[in-house]
Amino acid sequence: MPELPAAPRINPSILAADFVNMQRDLERIASADFAHVDVMDNHFVPNLTFGPQMVERIQATSPVPLDVHLMITDPDRWAPGYAELGAASVTFHLEAASDPIALARRLRDIGARAGVAIKPGTPAESLYDMLDEFDQILVMTVEPGFGGQGFMPETMPKLRSLSDEAKRRGSSVWLQVDGGISDRTIEIASAAGADTFVAGSAVYGADDVEAAVTRLRELARAASLES
Ligand code: DX5
Ligand code: ZN
Repeated sequence: MPELPAAPRINPSILAADFVNMQRDLERIASADFAHVDVMDNHFVPNLTFGPQMVERIQATSPVPLDVHLMITDPDRWAPGYAELGAASVTFHLEAASDPIALARRLRDIGARAGVAIKPGTPAESLYDMLDEFDQILVMTVEPGFGGQGFMPETMPKLRSLSDEAKRRGSSVWLQVDGGISDRTIEIASAAGADTFVAGSAVYGADDVEAAVTRLRELARAASLES
């Protein structure tokens, strides 16, 4: 197992990349921690991106490991395939999974980090007793489906409670946020306990992509030290 990157981790979302210049846009994020890959099925969310064949090519091309975010129905059936193609981390939605613990164990058995995501309206308490089953919890800070939406600050108390609970239980689970993360909002999420940050438009919309990754990391680090 390669050494895991230290917090704060910055995972640019390639949903905001140029899909016909994917190789170029993957190379631009070589200084990031993971490439965040949003798989959408036009069913769990009202948008469609790519499936395993594309993700396999992205995996072969990316200079950094993949952090796959599955916004799909029936992850119990489809998520293991993403671990099998070599994604370092596979996150499925709690709302869509019929047996989240069995699925997380299967992902780990294949060799991936197992992640679970919750939408803004989904409470986190049901996860407290399963923290050990996961390597990452993704607290969505927008409704999943599209890039470029506004950050929802009302999700922060949930993140804070999860972070407190993880500390109380001595858990090393990573807490990820995704949606509307920018220079303006990353400090709020970091102060509330996030250690892993997805950013699409804030990275790929910047004039200098590499500088945007560095700046986001510095802002997150400073805010975590202050809190
Ligand atoms: C939204 C996706 C996000 C999206 C974030 O459903 O899960 O990963 O790419 O994009 P920004 O950072 O632009 O909000
Ligand atoms: Zn995502």
